Amino acid sequence: MAKRRIGLQKNMAENLKNITVVGSGTMGNGIAHVFAQFGFQVVLNDIKPEFVERGLNTIAGNLDRQVKKGALTEQQKQETLGRIKTSTNLENAAQSADFVVEAATEDETIKKDIFRTLDRATKPNVILATNTSSISITGIAAITKRPQNVIGMHFMNPVPVMKLVEVIRGLATSNETFAAVKNLAEKLGKMPVEVNDYPGFVSNRVLLPMLNEAMYCVMEGVATPEAIDTVMKLGMNHPMGPLQLADFIGLDVCLSIMNVLHEGLGDSKYRPCPLLKKMVASGNLGRKTGKGFYNYSSKENTKT
Ligand code: CAA
Repeated sequence: MAKRRIGLQKNMAENLKNITVVGSGTMGNGIAHVFAQFGFQVVLNDIKPEFVERGLNTIAGNLDRQVKKGALTEQQKQETLGRIKTSTNLENAAQSADFVVEAATEDETIKKDIFRTLDRATKPNVILATNTSSISITGIAAITKRPQNVIGMHFMNPVPVMKLVEVIRGLATSNETFAAVKNLAEKLGKMPVEVNDYPGFVSNRVLLPMLNEAMYCVMEGVATPEAIDTVMKLGMNHPMGPLQLADFIGLDVCLSIMNVLHEGLGDSKYRPCPLLKKMVASGNLGRKTGKGFYNYSSKENTKT
C-alpha cells in the first residue's frame, strides 16, 4: 500500500508538463519565467492583452539580465520565451493545463471567482495552486469540488532569484497534492518549505510586522526612512531595508496582509500603521507607482 502511494505521488509530479499561470503581474510573470526556464510549457493568462504583453516583456527583460550575467545563453533565453504562450481566456487556458498556479490580484473575491472557473474548466484531479501571500487556502479550496487538490505555492519576489517556495497545506490538501508541489518546486531549483494554513503563513506573519514597525518609527519621528533602512541593512545584514522592501512589495499589498493578520489573529499587535493606511489612500504604493517611502520617478531610491 505504502509503495503504491509513493509511486502515485511520483507519477502525479512527473506528468505535470503544461502549466497555466493566472495573472501576469510581478509574481505571475516571475512564476511563468521560472517554469519556462526549467523546460515546462507555459500559458500565461490575464484579463487584457496589454497585461500579458507587459508580463512577457518583463520576462524578456529579466532573461536578458540573466544572459548578461552569464547565467543563461542567448539560445536558452529564446527557448524559454518559445515555451510561453499567452491567453486572455481563462477557460481555454485552464483546459490544457496539467497544473495551475494562480497569481492574480490579492483580492479574495477575485481569487474565488478564478478558482470557480478553474474547478469547472480544468481536467479532473488537476492541482490548483495559489500564490496568495495571505488569503486562506482552506477558504479558497472550499469553493471548489476538489479541496484535496488545492494548495498554496507561495513564491518570493523576485521569483527568478529567490530560493524559497512556501508550500501551504489547506485543511483538506492531500498528501499526494503536497508531494507533487514539493517535487515541482524542487524541479524549479527552489527550496520548498512546508507550512500550515494560518493567516500570513510563516513568511508574511514574521516579515510584515517588522515592516509595519519600521513605518511606526517613521510616523513617530524616531528616524528617517534612510536611517531606519541603514540600521537594518548594516546592523542586521538584510539585503534591503524594511521601508525599501515595503516599497518593493507594494504598500497596498503590505496593508492588505496586515489587515489579514489583524482580522485573522485578532491581536492588536498586528494593527496596520496609520501612516501605511494614509500612503495607500494617497495612491503612493511604492515602486510600482513611482513613489512610496522613496521617490523612484527621477533618481532611484531618493527620499520622498
Ligand atoms: N529576474 C532575474 N534576475 C534578477 C531579478 C529578476 N527579476 N532581479 C534581480 N536579479 C538578479 C540580478 O541580475 C543579480 O544577479 P547576480 O547575483 O547573478 O549578479 C541578482 O539578482 C542581484 O540583483 P542586483 O545586483 O540587481 O541587486 P541586489 O544585489 O541589490 O539584489 C535583490 C536585488 C535580489 C532584490 C535583493 O535586494 C534582495 O534579495 N532583496 C530582498 C528581497 C525580498 O526580501 N524578497 C521577498 C519579498 S516578500 C515576498 O515576496 C512575499 C510576499 O508575499 C510579500
